[in-house]
Amino acid sequence: MTTDTIVAVADGVMRITMNRPAKKNALTGPMYDAMTAALEKADANDEIRAVVIAGAGGAFTAGNDLADFLATATRGEENRAGHFIRKIATLDTPIVAAVDGVAVGVGTTMLFHCDLVYATPSAKFRMPFLDLGLVPEAASSILAPARFGMARASEYILLAEAFGPNEAKDLGLVNAIVAPAALEATAMEAARKLAAKPAGALRAARRLMRGDRKDIEAAIERESAAFAKALTSPEAKAAFTAFLNRTKG
Ligand code: COA
Repeated sequence: MTTDTIVAVADGVMRITMNRPAKKNALTGPMYDAMTAALEKADANDEIRAVVIAGAGGAFTAGNDLADFLATATRGEENRAGHFIRKIATLDTPIVAAVDGVAVGVGTTMLFHCDLVYATPSAKFRMPFLDLGLVPEAASSILAPARFGMARASEYILLAEAFGPNEAKDLGLVNAIVAPAALEATAMEAARKLAAKPAGALRAARRLMRGDRKDIEAAIERESAAFAKALTSPEAKAAFTAFLNRTKG
C-alpha cells in the first residue's frame, strides 16, 4: 500500500490525486501502477462516468521520477510509465485535469488525453525530454504539432521551453485559468456534468473527436522504441545524474 496515489470515487466521479508533494509529485513505478489500475477500474465500472486527475501540495507533477529513470537506464529496471501512457491514451471514460503548479514531462503530455483541463495562475508546463537526452512520449510527437502547430510544438518539444497558463490556454491545452481555491470545485463540477451525460453517447463522441486510436497507438509504439534507446544513452544518464546530484542554491 502506498499513499503516494489517492483514489476516491463519489457521485460517479473517480478522483486520482498524485500525492508525493515533497517531490513535487514526481511519478514512481508504484504511482504509475496505482494510476493505471485506477483508470482500468474506471473503464470497467459503469458507475464511474468521469475521472479527475490532480496533484497535491501545489504541484500537478514533476513528471517521471528521475531516480527511477536512472535505475532503468543503469540497472535495466522496468519503467512502468508505458502502461499508464497506453491506458490514459486509450481510455473511454472522460478525464478532467486540475493543474496547480508544475506539470512537467508526462505532467504535460497526459493533458493531451484529457477532455477538460483547468489550471491555476501558477501552473507551469514543460516537456523537457530533449534536455534530458530523451524523446517525446504519450503520443505528444503527433499530438503537440496537431494541437499547437509545428512551429509552436518545436519551441516546446525541441527547445523544451516552459510555458505558463495563459499560453497553455491560447494553445488550446487549457480550458480556463482559475484561482487555486476554486480549482477543485471547478474540476469536480465539470466532471459531474460529464458524469450526468448519456454515457454511451459521451464515450462514442470522445472516440470520434480523438480520431483513429490506431494512429495514437502507433505513435506511442514508435516513441517507446526511441525512448527506450535514448534512456540508456550516455547523454540521458548524465542528465539524470546531474539533476540528482545538483546542489540547490
Ligand atoms: N524526479 C525526482 N525527484 C524530483 C523530481 C523528479 N522528476 N522533480 C523534483 N524532484 C524533487 C527534487 O529533487 C527535490 O527533492 P529534495 O527536496 O529532496 O532535494 C523536490 O522534488 C522539490 O523539487 P525542487 O527542484 O526543489 O522544486 P522547484 O520548485 O525548485 O522545481 C521542478 C520544480 C519540477 C521545476 C524541478 O524539480 C525539476 O526540474 N524537476 C525535474 C523535472 C523533470 O525533468 N522530470 C522528468 C520529465 S521527463
